[in-house]
Amino acid sequence: MARKKIAVVGAGNVGATTAQRLAEKEIGDVILVDIIQDMPQGKALDILESAPVYGYDSKIIGTNEYEETRNSDIVVVTSGVARKPGMSRDDLLKINAGIVKGVVENIVKTSPNAILIVVSNPLDAMTYVAHKISRFPKNRIMGMAGVLDAARFSTFIAMDLNVSVENIHAFVLGGHGDTMVPSTRYTTVAGVSVEELIPKSRLEAIVKRTREGGAEIVNLLKTGSAFYAPSAAVAEMAKSIVKDKKKILPCAALCEGEYGINGLFVGVPVKLGERGIEQVFEIKLNNEESAALKRSAEAVKTLCDQVDKLL
Ligand code: NAI
Ligand code: 2OP
Repeated sequence: MARKKIAVVGAGNVGATTAQRLAEKEIGDVILVDIIQDMPQGKALDILESAPVYGYDSKIIGTNEYEETRNSDIVVVTSGVARKPGMSRDDLLKINAGIVKGVVENIVKTSPNAILIVVSNPLDAMTYVAHKISRFPKNRIMGMAGVLDAARFSTFIAMDLNVSVENIHAFVLGGHGDTMVPSTRYTTVAGVSVEELIPKSRLEAIVKRTREGGAEIVNLLKTGSAFYAPSAAVAEMAKSIVKDKKKILPCAALCEGEYGINGLFVGVPVKLGERGIEQVFEIKLNNEESAALKRSAEAVKTLCDQVDKLL
């Protein structure tokens, strides 16, 4: 079977690391795109030259043109500006909305049947931009954030309990921002609710650290934001699609009535398979969780209203 064709737009920290992960895991052949002349070509060649050492056969090229991405099966959009210390994801809205709009216009022309995975921030609003411009059906457009946020949540729980991260199934809902909703009730360690294993005060501290996980890295790096864990999260989503694994993962999906949310991309559990988002799972929330998700969706709506004024 021919390998899938995956375009990664934006060859910065997240884009280049995503390209590397996709190639190393042979999830597909990769085309890395950026506006900076020669840079994606250089990074792609450097990654390709690691193939003989690592032993993989995925091909990877870099380009400044969309022609080479034509008929991609998946397009990952990482182009845009990243946060610096003191900036929120929302500060990026205006500049990144214009960048994502232009990129998606090119994708629509060259890969009209692709599945789009948006990464640029503010994530939920940029996925909304990509949908507004592309009008791709809702199964073929999604945002990456929940897999990353859940991974951070799992990391902190594993650190606290000193157990394998593989035992932890973390559950996160809502937008990719300070209002995200890590659910302790649905997060399990070897099948047992984490609420049974970690005292409330420590769990609250873990939830807070998860919510602020992006800022924690920004403050340490000082010149940009996280990219190792984000690229791992994108690769996990792409793998579930390419291999039709039908994994249930938290992704920003277009909600049309689910959880009482309408017309917004918000993080919810979805089934990811060869058709993209094959199902949105609507799980039962208690009053506290429902209220938190509603607050998070309202924060996303405020940004989308700004997008509607801009575009
Ligand atoms: P970066 O600055 O390292 O890379 C961004 C790249 O986009 C640059 O190489 C730039 O030249 C390129 N670019 C700008 N305009 C472009 C255009 N019109 N066409 C093609 N390429 C273009 O930033 P980084 O760290 O890779 O982050 C990228 C974006 O992803 C940021 O908006 C960041 O906030 C977001 N992000 C989102 C995460 C999430 O969980 N959803 C996690 C991590 C980052
Ligand atoms: C993060 O959560 C910046 O959104 C990015 O690390």
